[in-house]
Amino acid sequence: MSRRLEGKSALITGAARGIGLAFAEAFVREGATVVIADIDLDRARESAAKLGERAHAVHIDVTDIASIERAVTETEAKIGGIDILVNNAALFDMAPIVEITRESYERLYAVNVHGVLFTMQAVARSMIKRGRGGKIINMASQAGRRGEALVAVYCSTKAAVISLTQSAGLDLIKHGINVNAIAPGVVDGEHWAGVDALFSKYENRPLGEKKRLAGAAVPFGRMGQAEDLTGMAIFLAGPESDYVVAQTYNVDGGNWMS
Ligand SMILES: NC(=O)c1ccc[n+]([C@@H]2O[C@H](COP(=O)([O-])OP(=O)(O)OC[C@H]3O[C@@H](n4cnc5c(N)ncnc54)[C@H](O)[C@@H]3O)[C@@H](O)[C@H]2O)c1
Repeated sequence: MSRRLEGKSALITGAARGIGLAFAEAFVREGATVVIADIDLDRARESAAKLGERAHAVHIDVTDIASIERAVTETEAKIGGIDILVNNAALFDMAPIVEITRESYERLYAVNVHGVLFTMQAVARSMIKRGRGGKIINMASQAGRRGEALVAVYCSTKAAVISLTQSAGLDLIKHGINVNAIAPGVVDGEHWAGVDALFSKYENRPLGEKKRLAGAAVPFGRMGQAEDLTGMAIFLAGPESDYVVAQTYNVDGGNWMS
């Protein structure tokens, strides 16, 4: 089979580890050149080095517009323009409503909402200037589809990502830029170790129990792996999705339906 992203260049935020890194690996395998952009530059460099010469690392702090703009300029210099952006960087936190702190709320909104909007803006400007269109994929979540008792702030940031995807999708398609999103369910990895520890604290459970229950509740029969999401990411990054605009796709083993 011919490679589906041959000659394309991609910027993926938060790709030093986890789902973003799996996307970087898959995109390289499909013929793309990728920039792994992360606040953890050392880990981004390590991850890029493992993927070979078509992977590069840049520093980005998506909460800071100047840092986003620097990362976009650096990416253009390294890979000659951006065809694909994946807005993947995000933070998770949880607490009962009466214990949510202003600091936690502001930190999550800064990364998960401000980060998505202003990275999308900076890259859209770059794509419009270049005149070749592009593909933008935002990472939403099943958490953005409905509230959860202990997860109010994170859920609302992911609902904002779904909404931003709709508006930006409708606005940017006139420039040939498709904006769509992926809503994963529960995906194993370092991120979920943190989620499990927080549920253990607030639901008074032994460590590991929430993760086991979350996996067992997925109709497919297990938690997702980052690699389970790469097929959708390649589709949304490639030419087969040209007529797909402003959508958010669940890739969750049936979790949202159950
Ligand atoms: N893992 C899941 O179960 C799950 C479920 C639904 C949605 N998602 C979403 O998928 C995406 C990836 O999730 P993951 O599990 O791989 O997360 P992860 O926590 O493993 O990775 C997130 C990455 O973002 C980086 N990052 C954090 N703050 C940043 C900032 N200010 N600027 C730049 N980079 C920053 C981190 O260094 C890290 O490398 C996220 O948007 C997440 O919300 C994950």
